[in-house]
Amino acid sequence: MVQGDYEQFKKSILALTKINLTAYKEKQMRRRIDTLIERNKFKDYASYADGLKTDTKLFDEFVNYITINVSEFYRNTDQWELMDKEYIPELRKKFGDNLKIWSAACSTGDEPYSLVMAFSRHIPLDKIKIHATDLDKTVIGKAKVGLYSAKSLTGVPKDFKDKYFEKIGPSFQIKDDIKKHVEFKEHNLLKDPFPTNYDLIVCRNVLIYFTEEAKDEVFRKFAASLKIGGFLFIGSTEQIMDYRSMGFERRNSFFYERVK
Ligand SMILES: C[S@@+](CC[C@H](N)C(=O)[O-])C[C@H]1O[C@@H](n2cnc3c(N)ncnc32)[C@H](O)[C@@H]1O
Repeated sequence: MVQGDYEQFKKSILALTKINLTAYKEKQMRRRIDTLIERNKFKDYASYADGLKTDTKLFDEFVNYITINVSEFYRNTDQWELMDKEYIPELRKKFGDNLKIWSAACSTGDEPYSLVMAFSRHIPLDKIKIHATDLDKTVIGKAKVGLYSAKSLTGVPKDFKDKYFEKIGPSFQIKDDIKKHVEFKEHNLLKDPFPTNYDLIVCRNVLIYFTEEAKDEVFRKFAASLKIGGFLFIGSTEQIMDYRSMGFERRNSFFYERVK
């Protein structure tokens, strides 16, 4: 185990990166950080924090490592099928074709690009605009380049794979036809103000790393960011405990509707 004052380390990280480690599950996060510090051969938290101040490579590695950015296209395909059959048609009926959609904690772009493709089954591409945000600017950079392994494309329907990806060596690059419908921005769910008036918010596989209190606060803010009748689409291992008090109704395990 790494020596030193972890509480002080959390304060230094907040000052340095604006990432509030107190809001992430402590055991899991500390284990990850300890592994990274040991791998870089620092002897304690304080000297590693000093290293982060001066070494940009070390800094980028730290942010990238603790934010855990595994993603893939159409992650949990059954839920995307449900969205295609049920929730996209319902959203169109309620709000028309100019939908306001937010992919929060979007990582390398797999999720917002999947959203563009999924909506294009229902709405002409030129009407689709996805707001995509993440805390980590390195993943946003990767999302903008849009280069993916064959494995992360497993869930992409065959017609879309043929039409919207270009094979480059062993990788696949998403084409501009899809890219230009996503606008990426940096946004920290634990710190920044939430934009409002959304018809759909997709936030998956990030809140699992947050403490119960932090998670609760983020869900309440998502409720306030949705229009009445709008949906929140969450990850397959997540659930909202106190959803009624937040103004949600549970439509199925992973889709919640703001009802008041
Ligand atoms: C495991 S990925 C999930 C990506 C995608 N939503 C999916 O389900 O495939 C988690 C993402 O959350 C981002 N993240 C972690 N803490 C965050 C925060 N406080 N605010 C915004 N994004 C955050 C990470 O940078 C990472 O890209």
